[in-house]
Amino acid sequence: MFAKRAVLFSILATGVGLAQSISLSAGCQSTLASLVVSPNSACLNPQALVGIVTADDNASLVNPIDNWLSGQCSQPQCTNETLANIVSTVTAGCQSDLQSLGFGNLSADEITNVVQMAYPTVRKVACLSNQSNNTLCVTETLNNVQSSVGTLSKTELQSLVSQISGGQLPDIPSSTLCTDCTKEGFNIVKTDFPSLVTSNIEGVVTNECSADFVDGSTPSNIEQTANTATATPAGNASGSTMASLPVGIAFSAILTLTSAFALFV
Ligand SMILES: *[C@@H]1O[C@H](CO)[C@@H](O)[C@H](O)[C@H]1NC(C)=O
Ligand SMILES: *[C@@H]1O[C@H](CO)[C@@H](O)[C@H](O)[C@H]1NC(C)=O
Ligand SMILES: *[C@@H]1O[C@H](CO)[C@@H](O)[C@H](O)[C@H]1NC(C)=O
Ligand SMILES: *[C@@H]1O[C@H](CO)[C@@H](O)[C@H](O)[C@H]1NC(C)=O
Ligand SMILES: *[C@@H]1O[C@H](CO)[C@@H](O)[C@H](O)[C@H]1NC(C)=O
Repeated sequence: MFAKRAVLFSILATGVGLAQSISLSAGCQSTLASLVVSPNSACLNPQALVGIVTADDNASLVNPIDNWLSGQCSQPQCTNETLANIVSTVTAGCQSDLQSLGFGNLSADEITNVVQMAYPTVRKVACLSNQSNNTLCVTETLNNVQSSVGTLSKTELQSLVSQISGGQLPDIPSSTLCTDCTKEGFNIVKTDFPSLVTSNIEGVVTNECSADFVDGSTPSNIEQTANTATATPAGNASGSTMASLPVGIAFSAILTLTSAFALFV
């Protein structure tokens, strides 16, 4: 059930990120809040994350996530230097929060390395779009997941997180998980991180979806919307003011990756 688990763990990671974003330490919050406006983090569209953080507990997060991602995809991509600056500011300002998330043993260098390696792939997957109706694949997938598990609100995510950590997996049909969108996402991950997709995993995915799902061909109606320009770091911003709320993405990316590793190695 690799595909199901992958989706569930992404939900779990996002849920943990959101839960944490509500209970961040004061020091961490002020670090992040003062940095949302930094021109250097514009590549992660941090202003739109505020809409996610401030959404009502029972409101669906799909639209705020869609707003944030579509804005982020049209921004020039972050440079490695910007990512490194964001990580080092956040690891300095949010030390205790990182510790409670279980990342206390990772050095800033290690986190930077993981973020820099994962960022281009995460961005490519996040910016896939269904050309037929101009909807981001993530949005479409989340909408489909919503119709199986109910409104993806903060309240619902918290209950999903406790359900899943209690070993109870919500039943999401294959038709939701095995779409042209998720197929292209799978293609991208397999191309960028071939060692992650072992023949074992490919077998499980084939079982869940179909042989066509793993044939490597790009579905004709799926397009890449990521802006391919590279952000030019603003010259005079100081290094210590470059972090931003998007640490949530980094957390989620790291959580998703480590969950994937924990499951398959
Ligand atoms: C969310 O829904 C629950 C259960 O229906 C309700 O008790 C709670 O007051 C709602 N919260 C908000 C912020 O609307
Ligand atoms: C983290 O570091 C502490 C002390 O250095 C060690 O006891 C612990 O086992 C480490 N945890 C992990 C998950 O590596
Ligand atoms: C960014 O850093 C990663 C890992 O640290 C490296 O693999 C990648 O090639 C770098 N990208 C650029 C454009 O320098
Ligand atoms: C696009 O199609 C998908 C799948 O049928 C659907 O979930 C989504 O709501 C549609 N989006 C729009 C803007 O019509
Ligand atoms: C893309 O959108 C079209 C039109 O709404 C829909 O029929 C199709 O199922 C969507 N593709 C995916 C991969 O969901």
